[in-house]
Amino acid sequence: MKVDVILGLQWGDEGKGKIVDYLAPNYDLVARFQGGPNAGHTLKFDGKKFVLHTVPSGIFRQELMNLIGNGVVIDPITLEREIKGLESNNIDYKGRLLVARKAHLILPTHRYLDAASEASKGVEKIGSTLKGIGPTYMDKTGRNGLRAGDVNLPSFMEKYEALKVKHLGLLKQYPDVEFDLEAEEKKWFDSLDTLRSLDFVDGEYYVNEQLKQGKKILAEGAQGSMLDIDFGTYPFVTSSNTVTAGVCNGLGIAPSKIGEVIGITKAYCTRVGGGPFPTELFDADGEFLRKEGAEFGATTGRPRRCGWIDLPQLRYTIMLNGVTQLVLTKIDILNKFKTVKAATSYKFDGKESRDLPYDLCETDVEPVYTTYKAWEQEVPFEGGYKSMPDAAKLYIAELENELGAPITMISVGPEREALILKGS
Ligand code: GDP
Ligand code: IMO
Ligand code: MG
Repeated sequence: MKVDVILGLQWGDEGKGKIVDYLAPNYDLVARFQGGPNAGHTLKFDGKKFVLHTVPSGIFRQELMNLIGNGVVIDPITLEREIKGLESNNIDYKGRLLVARKAHLILPTHRYLDAASEASKGVEKIGSTLKGIGPTYMDKTGRNGLRAGDVNLPSFMEKYEALKVKHLGLLKQYPDVEFDLEAEEKKWFDSLDTLRSLDFVDGEYYVNEQLKQGKKILAEGAQGSMLDIDFGTYPFVTSSNTVTAGVCNGLGIAPSKIGEVIGITKAYCTRVGGGPFPTELFDADGEFLRKEGAEFGATTGRPRRCGWIDLPQLRYTIMLNGVTQLVLTKIDILNKFKTVKAATSYKFDGKESRDLPYDLCETDVEPVYTTYKAWEQEVPFEGGYKSMPDAAKLYIAELENELGAPITMISVGPEREALILKGS
């Protein structure tokens, strides 16, 4: 068996949580492979709304297992809060939520370092979610990090103290950053009891054994490909590999074990935080997308920047990820437009290109737009693809043609069932 992958092709918030939750019944295991509580994955069903940060989006499907993979960074405080949320909604997660021992831990001081780093950058700040993601991955690659499995080692306190002392030394450079370490440390240590109560596994052995037994696995990405540490709009990125390659490192599987790669894109584009966004709209259309699409961060509540769909950007991330299927979300937000636009190429350095320049931060690109006739009506999901308005079908066909990949699912609302399968 192979591992199928769901990931975001833009700057995050493409609707990954909804699609993972929808497809989860086809799988035996859903596994997060990177990121951490910077993620906010929204699921809506039975009149309820849940936002998950660390827990995989398969948790509401009783019959399957969920794994927080080794590539994830865990803040035990956030995790405990999420688990309490599950408990208060009578979701039985016991025995179904596994933690890879090699996943790294976010300490309270990582969060302070994140805040300090952002404050020192001034207007150039990344717009981090301030969850401690960057400093935790820095300690991982710097070979100083603390891992989930360490909480059960006799040397745990010693390791914790050493890292804390290192962080406090670094924080001395930022006297303006205020924090109450004692209170946060208490919360952090208390929350370790919840972490310890979960089932720890050697994730790499577990996942490969599941594959050997013929079990079906879905890897759930966080953030989006344009936030990838290597290929995103560096330095306005997150600190992990959000692309398909990250699944191999983040779960411990060989590249040959990757199956379908399902790339998610909104029918328009959003970004939260700083950094380049070529198709960003500053006019009434942008404001309309934000309002109609409820484009406010699921983790931080910040307003998301909005713009038209960007096809050079999507071609790039489809290439990087080896996308085999596309999912188009939030097309219902375009229902009221008379026409919709897509950037089909960029102009920069005196030429027109279908590719991205080396550095979007340093290059002024002018998007070249194509305008499509819109459908100007609701798109009901009950009638399936054949009942979709012709203008919407035409728009989808144009996107497929431009992107060179099939759109197999179209999402028309936040609820679990608001999804149209191509061919239905
Ligand atoms: P994720 O981080 O990729 O899981 O996405 P978020 O949960 O951060 O943001 C997506 C938002 O759009 C959430 O509020 C979803 O409930 C909502 N959503 C997902 N798909 C659709 C859709 O097709 N139409 C509408 N109107 N909302 C959607
Ligand atoms: P999901 O999984 C949207 C953005 C932040 C910031 C940059 C770096 O819900 O799609 P970090 O906290 O990682 O150091 O922030 O990345 N960012 C996201 N934007 N969706 C996310 O996750 C994001 N996770 C991080 O806004 O610009
Ligand atoms: Mg999100």
